[in-house]
Amino acid sequence: MIRRKIKDAMFQLGAVDWDRRLFDSLIPLPDGTSYNAYLIQGSEKTALLDTVDPAKTDIIMEQLADVAEVDYIVAHHAEQDHSGSIPHILAKYPDATVLASPKCKQMLIDHLHLPENKIKTVSDGETISLGSHTLEFVHTPWVHWPETMCTYVREEKALFSCDLFGAHLATSDLFAQDDERVYEAAKRYYAEIMMPFRSIIRKNIDKLSLLPIDIICPSHGPAYIHPPFILDAYKDWISETPKNSLVVAYISMHNSTRILVDRLVSSCASKGIFVQQFDLSVTDVGKLAIALVDAATIVLGTPTVHVGAHPHVLNAANLANALRPKLKFASVIGSYGWATKAVEQIASAIGALKVEIIPPVLCKGQPLPHDLDAIENLANGIYDRHRNAGLLI
Ligand code: FEO
Repeated sequence: MIRRKIKDAMFQLGAVDWDRRLFDSLIPLPDGTSYNAYLIQGSEKTALLDTVDPAKTDIIMEQLADVAEVDYIVAHHAEQDHSGSIPHILAKYPDATVLASPKCKQMLIDHLHLPENKIKTVSDGETISLGSHTLEFVHTPWVHWPETMCTYVREEKALFSCDLFGAHLATSDLFAQDDERVYEAAKRYYAEIMMPFRSIIRKNIDKLSLLPIDIICPSHGPAYIHPPFILDAYKDWISETPKNSLVVAYISMHNSTRILVDRLVSSCASKGIFVQQFDLSVTDVGKLAIALVDAATIVLGTPTVHVGAHPHVLNAANLANALRPKLKFASVIGSYGWATKAVEQIASAIGALKVEIIPPVLCKGQPLPHDLDAIENLANGIYDRHRNAGLLI
């Protein structure tokens, strides 16, 4: 990808990683990703905002081939997909100064072994003039590391937000155009990366809302020339009110748990509850994370393996516990052969979630009519709770 103009004197650099399918050896990337850096050539000084993943360093170096001077390298975030090329950039521009929040400075020293004297810390609200352009640094901690910040370019009303508002999406579009695809990718990104920090994101967005913003340029995915598209989406995702939505995530080994799942899903759907069902033996955990953004209730379905829950179900419980969605209710359904500790295990795995545990339904062997009656009671219990919480439309 070549250097591309966003506005006068402002360019997007970076790499589209079309083929990457996993981030942090954990997060699926079905649509690839990008690492966006930005170059602002002011009338007096030039600033590079972020860099790229170390594997793509050659690309940004080529994009900078005809740029004689870079005075500032702004490091919004020390994670290596944005900071990893800084040592190479500094080697090309030895007089450049790295600008970072105080916490980011130490992380850049720790992770990249940058020389301390090359890094200048900037405080919240501090400005640096490039002549024609003024960089205002806005500290936005915990999106998603403690050191993160954004840069606001006053003259262009442009916000450079790094991971915040990002989307793991490989696209040739400089600006968001395919709204449905971008929305899904941005929601996946929020679900997997940002959701555990939604209360502090709320404060950061309140802070950013004081700025007039014409364009948002994140460091993953396309830029937003219609900022309300992503700002309104975030306001919905970070609210503490879930939707009338049920997630059923399950494993079935010999069909008993599946019979319970099918009855529960059918019964809840017939009551007007939006249900998303995930077979954990094949599901994309990113899809599960997206579903958890809005869900009011999660039901985990598990057979019993060696007297405990199935490992895939425990993984899903651990994931939900780590992502801290706004769930209000949870339950467990499943089967066992002779004994089970599945409920205790799952309840322990989701211990960080502030949920009411609705009484579980476990059957011995294949479900009998009274087991299916118990599932109907569970469906009624979910419906009543959603109604009492004002979630029914
Ligand atoms: Fe895109 Fe947290 O790095």
